[in-house]
Amino acid sequence: MTIKIAPSILSADFTRLGEAVKEAEAAGVDRVQIDIMDGRFVPNITFGPLAVRALRPLTRLTLEVHLMVTPPEDFIDAFAEAGADTLIVHQEATPHLHRAIQHIHGHGKKAGVAINPSTPASVLSEVIGSLQLVLVMTVNPGFGGQEFIAETLDKLRQLRRTFTDRGLDCELEVDGGIHRQTAPLVVEAGANVLVAGSAVFGAKGGVKNAVEELLQAARRGLDSGSVV
Ligand code: DX5
Repeated sequence: MTIKIAPSILSADFTRLGEAVKEAEAAGVDRVQIDIMDGRFVPNITFGPLAVRALRPLTRLTLEVHLMVTPPEDFIDAFAEAGADTLIVHQEATPHLHRAIQHIHGHGKKAGVAINPSTPASVLSEVIGSLQLVLVMTVNPGFGGQEFIAETLDKLRQLRRTFTDRGLDCELEVDGGIHRQTAPLVVEAGANVLVAGSAVFGAKGGVKNAVEELLQAARRGLDSGSVV
């Protein structure tokens, strides 16, 4: 299983977001995650479509847009047209999740669904077969630098088993409190894409070194041999 790091620019210097994305690209990652927050679904406000439009021409990286907004359907067109490659909506944010996924695919974009720590994986059963990514929140969304919630590990194991049993080619991503100590735990439980904000952009040794250290730590989870 290939482990990937998705730096979250939520933890980057907001006065130099373009440089932060370029540093991430130079570090060898294949994507960055852009945390969109509306102050309603989560108690914080961050970026809008204009920020994605501004970053798009600066990089060839996949722009993963994590829509912590409600209702997400109202924002899919704007972010898809701004240049997002993957749009991740929250299951909790809409009664029309299937339609939101169709809407994303209608733009030719990859669709992901995120679930909060209190949301069971079973809510995805009717749509999981059409997804390119499932994001298990390992913190309650809204802020970077929070404590990892270890109770989410069983949910990861359950989803990894589902992907294997159903032969799904879907990424299993985690977001929140991911650093050198938690990275092997989530990989051992089945995650293969690790979103990291403060562990990457807050690292003293710089972005490239932080990404390399995270990858090394994450791969220790593979060595444990428990991932199918
Ligand atoms: C939560 C955000 C954060 C961010 C990563 O709403 O989505 O999880 O991306 O934060 P860190 O890696 O600093 O915990």
